[in-house]
Amino acid sequence: MASKFMNWVDARFPATQLWNEHIGQYYAPKNFNVWYYFGSLAMLVLANQLLTGIWLAMFYKPSAAEAFGSVAYIMRDVEWGWLIRYMHSTGASFFFIVVYLHMFRALLYGSYRKPRELLWIFGCLIFLALMAEAFMGYVLPWGNMSYWGAQVIISLFSAIPVIGEQLTTWIRGDFVIGDATLNRFFALHVVALPFVLVGLVIAHIMALHHVGSNNPDGIEIKANKNADGHPADGIPFHPYYTVKDLFGVGVFLILFCGVIFFAPEFGGFFLEPPNFTEANPSVTPEHIAPVWYFTPFYAMLRAINFEVLGVPAKLLGVITMFGAVLIMFVLPWLDRSKVKSIRYKGWIFKAMLAAFVVAFVILGYIGTQAPSPLLTTIAQVCTAVYFAFFLLMPFYSVIDRTKPVPERVTG
Ligand code: HEM
Repeated sequence: MASKFMNWVDARFPATQLWNEHIGQYYAPKNFNVWYYFGSLAMLVLANQLLTGIWLAMFYKPSAAEAFGSVAYIMRDVEWGWLIRYMHSTGASFFFIVVYLHMFRALLYGSYRKPRELLWIFGCLIFLALMAEAFMGYVLPWGNMSYWGAQVIISLFSAIPVIGEQLTTWIRGDFVIGDATLNRFFALHVVALPFVLVGLVIAHIMALHHVGSNNPDGIEIKANKNADGHPADGIPFHPYYTVKDLFGVGVFLILFCGVIFFAPEFGGFFLEPPNFTEANPSVTPEHIAPVWYFTPFYAMLRAINFEVLGVPAKLLGVITMFGAVLIMFVLPWLDRSKVKSIRYKGWIFKAMLAAFVVAFVILGYIGTQAPSPLLTTIAQVCTAVYFAFFLLMPFYSVIDRTKPVPERVTG
């Protein structure tokens, strides 16, 4: 019966063909390690955000008068509303944890290198869209940090010469942040950006399956094929990696539930204290800081407190902050090393990567703190290290002494 039904479907829709191409007969390298959990986990968190988002939208009211109250209503009166809301707010932070680890894996194993440049670029676009999505979502509860965070970020656009002021008014839809801003952010957060994200993720996976996965050795497994035409170092995604990914999902869900049930605000890192007070244009929070996943970039923005060649500090800070994300797009062309994986790279790359990670974490910390002269100086040094990792790569990746890469994967 089942196979008859599938024959009927396959004659009308390529269901079996799609299953085989992307799961059943997709040959992935046999040496995936723990870093390879985060792609499937990113898909899981995306699904969680979409589903919990739909349920939140059933009770949320996108108006400046009602938004804050409707979130309180969801938390207190809607059945299981608190769970749906915490799944969504904790889900946002977990999304960034997963995506940062996923991106770091690409740095470790050179997964952005030829022939995976477009796969990487789709990833960078996902990251940009995700940042926009998270920023707009944060404004929706209309807490005081939502309001003032939006105020700080939107006013950054006024630093752009000539069109800055008009652009800011256009984004807000008003001369101040208000009902119009909240309404458009709701539309973008709930409809437009989720579409963009899902579309980009589909393109990301299509590009991945077109070129094939990289692996911790950075070896192209398609170069070595068996008599049956399959990569000698490859194994079918199903059942081997479906089972492995399910294990990852289990571990992830334990951690995720632990945070949702025992520390949903995560000490003010996932939900900030000022956001439990309604938006108030006349009371500025003592210290405005974005959620932790934006703080490295926010610290870079604040670190630039000097002008260069007549370019004002504010504009330079905005350029630095956006530049920190945009520079990732050209990474495939900055790395000129003979090898892909860190396993065969020399000490210079390892040292630069370590410095980059340390600088990023320190920037993340500084972004959560009130500014001080000492912290600003440290942030300036860390910003320089962040950019040096990228901009000096064309030089150090050439002079770095690499090890010979084996013909076959080593496990
Ligand atoms: C919604 C967010 C994302 C989803 C759902 C997603 C999904 C995936 C999946 C399922 C894989 C294959 C499994 C794996 O290698 O772990 C993958 C691979 C990859 N992703 Fe993503 N991804 C996302 C964001 C990103 C971002 C932000 C970047 C980089 C800027 C990126 C870069 C890559 C690269 C380079 C690979 C190939 C890795 C390799 O073969 O070694 N991804 N992605």
